[in-house]
Amino acid sequence: VARVGLRSAVRVTSRALSNVGGRQRAVPAATVEDQDTRKTFADVQKERQQQAKHSVLINCPPNVNEKTFLNYLSQHGQVANHFFYESYGTHAVVEFFDQENVESLRSHATVPSVQNEYVLPFKSRIFTLNSASSSSGVPVECHRQSSLPINELIQKLCRAQNIEEQTYLLLEEYQLTDENLRLRFLVSSLIKDIAAAYFPEATVNPYGSTVNSFGKLGCDLDLFLDLENIQRKKPGKAGGPFATEYLMKRVTSGRAATQRILSVIGECIDNFGPGCTGVQKILNARCPLVRFSHQPAGLQCDLTSDNRIALRSSELLYIYGNFDHRVRSLVFTLRCWARVHGITSAIPGAWITNFSLTMMILFFLQKRNLPVVPTLDHLKSLAGKEDQHIIEGHDCSFTSNLNKMKPSENPDPPDLLLGEFFEFYGNFDFTKNCIDIRKGKEQNKPESSPLYIRNPFEQNLNVSKNVNQSQLDRFVALARESAWIIQDQMNQSVERENKVWGLGMVLLPAVFQGIGKIKKKRKRTPASDRIKSLLDSLKTNGKAR
Ligand code: GTP
Ligand code: MG
Repeated sequence: VARVGLRSAVRVTSRALSNVGGRQRAVPAATVEDQDTRKTFADVQKERQQQAKHSVLINCPPNVNEKTFLNYLSQHGQVANHFFYESYGTHAVVEFFDQENVESLRSHATVPSVQNEYVLPFKSRIFTLNSASSSSGVPVECHRQSSLPINELIQKLCRAQNIEEQTYLLLEEYQLTDENLRLRFLVSSLIKDIAAAYFPEATVNPYGSTVNSFGKLGCDLDLFLDLENIQRKKPGKAGGPFATEYLMKRVTSGRAATQRILSVIGECIDNFGPGCTGVQKILNARCPLVRFSHQPAGLQCDLTSDNRIALRSSELLYIYGNFDHRVRSLVFTLRCWARVHGITSAIPGAWITNFSLTMMILFFLQKRNLPVVPTLDHLKSLAGKEDQHIIEGHDCSFTSNLNKMKPSENPDPPDLLLGEFFEFYGNFDFTKNCIDIRKGKEQNKPESSPLYIRNPFEQNLNVSKNVNQSQLDRFVALARESAWIIQDQMNQSVERENKVWGLGMVLLPAVFQGIGKIKKKRKRTPASDRIKSLLDSLKTNGKAR
């Protein structure tokens, strides 16, 4: 089982000095070490999927004795990796070295005997461990699976040395951990087991923020049910006067086929999927999906099919996120900023989405005098034969090899980029121009949507068509105010003890009260009673820790 290297690819654990653009700066150590051996998206996915195949999920008794637990499991085979977490009780993800070990555990597990109820005997890789004894009396160490509340995050940021370090600290706190990724890929593999009841050759792969390097702890799990393996199968060797094909039902469109398949898999998840609750079939959406909650994993899942371009978008974002260490720190910081101020929302509506915001950040980074990231057209020009992908008539080709890309010569630290991002969009001519990461240049808007962000692959589509004028106005007003605050914070060298400063100042909702609503010019000092009490509460909490 290939397990090496994944952790360093996702965790920022320590800092090192790097000479970027002739200036020594603190950057995450992992980004320095991994420069020459950066894995392709496909390699990372394959390793994670392999781990997941050998893994099981076990609901443990409270205060389970870890040593006894591992001893018990070792009768089925060697445990390669394990960790505990809390979600509706204590759970463990256990990875065995071999798939046979999982089969051994399965063959020894029994069907629960219940009174006044009936079990639906679908045997998955989720188990309950019942124990009469062996409690250690002390709770096992559980890994956190959700991100820090904003107030606690701001307190932590206050302990950094400077704003640049604050952006890396935010990234470190928010990004998906190795354990969380293992859990996500395990859920994906468990859903594949359900789909396999009808379609043994189908695969289920995570996409979206789980894999695009911008996932925050607690984000949803986007799953893609891939049936292409079935269609792609080549005819067998047998020749002769006939060719045999399957008799199969036919429908009038690919969309209708996707709806039928998702409908049935949704029913299976609802009826038999252990721990799957709140199943909703949203089949008439532009992209049909099945939404459900995976309770033992504590994850909200969206299962789609026939959404191959979204998979390519995920890989493209992964390439950008891993190209330069500043990209992820900036994206995480701005996603956090946008969420705190209600620019993005968990509820669908006229808000800017995380995906649109990320496109805006990449476009801004392409527009620097010395670009921080290349254009999509440049990535396409580096594409090899294996990178050529035409999907539904759209050219989705770009290099998957990070080692082919020349590092950026731009020396700007993330704090400077953050301030310039706010200024750039505070002054952007949204009435005239559209944003396009393929060209990295403003172009005339083809139609009158308030915000026009060209879909990188389906170039005639606007990814932010849903955004209305008032949401865009709020974004611009907040960007202008934040530009002012960050500038002010960068110039200050005041006493920081027990004070919110730097990045914390643009993440405090109270500082912005009324921005985007009141047209009157505001007094900019954070002196209102509300802010004072917020700061006081942060101080008190800080002391209590
Ligand atoms: P989170 O907010 O952390 O879930 O980010 P996300 O990137 O996972 O976004 P979301 O779950 O909304 O969508 C999953 C994936 O679908 C994205 O990563 C994109 O690849 C794709 N996607 C989302 N919104 C759009 C859109 O408006 N247009 C297009 N073309 N693709 C989208
Ligand atoms: Mg998502």
